[in-house]
Amino acid sequence: MASDFAQQVKGSVDIVRVIGDYVRLKKAGPERFAGLCPFHSEKSPSFSVHARLQIFKCFGCGKGGDVFSFLMEYSGLSFVEALHQLAEQHGIPIPKRREGAEADADAKHREALYRAHELAQQFFERQLFEAAGEEALAYLRRRGLGDATIRAFGIGHAPAGNRLLSLLERQGFGEEALVGSGLVGKPEDRPGYYDRFRDRVTFPIANQTGKIIGFGARALRDEQQPKYLNSPETAIYKKSAVLYNLHRAREPMHQKNRVILAEGYMDVIGVAGAGVGEVVASCGTALTQQQVRTLRRLVDTVVVNFDSDSAGQSAVEKSLQLLLEENFHVKVLELPGGLDPDEYCRQHGADAYRRQLDHARNFSVWLADRARTKFDLSTAEGRVDAFEFLKPSIHLLPDKIQRAAVANDIAERLGVNPGLILEEFRRSSADRGRRAAPPSIKHPLGHSERLLLELFLDSPEARAEMLPQTAEATRAQQSAGAAIFQAMLAAQESGEPFEFSAIEGRLQPRDREILSQIVFDRDRQPFAIEQGRSALAAIERQGWEREYRAVRREIVEAERNSDRRESLRLLQRKVELERRLGVLRPQA
Ligand code: UTP
Ligand code: MN
Repeated sequence: MASDFAQQVKGSVDIVRVIGDYVRLKKAGPERFAGLCPFHSEKSPSFSVHARLQIFKCFGCGKGGDVFSFLMEYSGLSFVEALHQLAEQHGIPIPKRREGAEADADAKHREALYRAHELAQQFFERQLFEAAGEEALAYLRRRGLGDATIRAFGIGHAPAGNRLLSLLERQGFGEEALVGSGLVGKPEDRPGYYDRFRDRVTFPIANQTGKIIGFGARALRDEQQPKYLNSPETAIYKKSAVLYNLHRAREPMHQKNRVILAEGYMDVIGVAGAGVGEVVASCGTALTQQQVRTLRRLVDTVVVNFDSDSAGQSAVEKSLQLLLEENFHVKVLELPGGLDPDEYCRQHGADAYRRQLDHARNFSVWLADRARTKFDLSTAEGRVDAFEFLKPSIHLLPDKIQRAAVANDIAERLGVNPGLILEEFRRSSADRGRRAAPPSIKHPLGHSERLLLELFLDSPEARAEMLPQTAEATRAQQSAGAAIFQAMLAAQESGEPFEFSAIEGRLQPRDREILSQIVFDRDRQPFAIEQGRSALAAIERQGWEREYRAVRREIVEAERNSDRRESLRLLQRKVELERRLGVLRPQA
């Protein structure tokens, strides 16, 4: 279906990158980029792109929309042309109607690769428990893995020789699928093929739907190099997008609203095996922005739990930037004794690990400690260097309160005056403000309505719990945000993906303007569902208070007219409202 495909394309491209090809964009807020509008002539930037909501808006000329509308407007393309252009640029196969022989071939190729991986997985799993797998099985046992864990993670053994190759050939796979799968290699200097994974323990890597798309394979002995051999990029395995164990971690992540980011396969298995399921790792590559975004759509907090060696520590530093850019709440867990997550879980057990997890420190404390070991804080230069080191992360913090908290953390750890640090923060955030002031436009929504609006944009749980009630309460009161909440509710109930464009499409121009203003204006501190509840309560209360005042006026009126029935009805309503308002305070 065309709209499924459009969704798929939209989900795999980044509007900031796409527009960035045409407009010089600068980061202007935690989730916002700004530049000079390509649709009208201007000297200061009023053109904004919202990274998380994947929309753009010009507050000068009013043009706005999603990645498709941008290309349509900019290059004069039709929707279908814009869709195809994006898909092609991003290597997303375009589904074709009947005649699309090429697309069919593509789909068939991918199908063959999935099938080859399925067969390989069955083969490796079986091999582990055969005679040839004895050493591998002993190795896994030595590392503390029981049969249940081995089976849960599909761990297997790739034997020496070219046995998988013969199996796949017997199944009728030709060169394109064999080599294309990455399971088989082709030597340059002689004819024929060879098994990529030989004499190794195999860890299957799955996509988000649980289909196996690649392997990581560990050496059994020290002299084998490399320690881990991974599948290459293939038509079904895009490394920058995949996270190890994500398909199993999704549900626990959702429950806990957090994810643990580990470094290696064995760490993930150790932690998940200890009963903490919300754990993933990138497979044999540095963490990418795409992976971070994938996680960000699922949870708010990430606990980075890498190895304590120096490679692990600098990997933490690098990951922090990416994570903070996506507005994650970031903690860093360093395990005592310099142990890997895997080793720690094995030596101390699940409960001890969970306790450590609960005490993971905010990233700022970790960074400050790191600065303390890197720089000599007894000298002025050392302190300047330390601050330079900390600054990029601080810059990424979205709001004042967080920055102040971090300033205190850091000052305390560095043993300097928090005032100094705060002053630096103030200066650096002022810089940021000057570079690209967020459009500040007056919108008529009250605090509670605005809070709920932002919360609903972020949180499916909040929508499920409070959107209908909010839409009803604001409609009854004809308050400023009523139409927007109605539109949100309609979008929600339509069953289509809950997207900005779906809401916008249901609004009159004026409300559309209000919505964009709010979305782009915010220096986002994510609201908690609890705050939403209070906001909704406040709105409902306002409504009741207004009605209460009206009812009291009407009672006087009804009594003046000696309308017994009406005044009785009104009195009942008055009592009901007093109950709701908890009133014995009739001045309300
Ligand atoms: P580590 O070297 O820290 O290994 O690599 P580990 O996870 O502690 O492995 P064990 O416990 O010795 O078995 C961390 C991750 O880096 C990738 C793998 O994804 C590994 O899990 N890696 C490492 C490679 O891709 N290739 C290598 O040669 C080494
Ligand atoms: Mn390890």
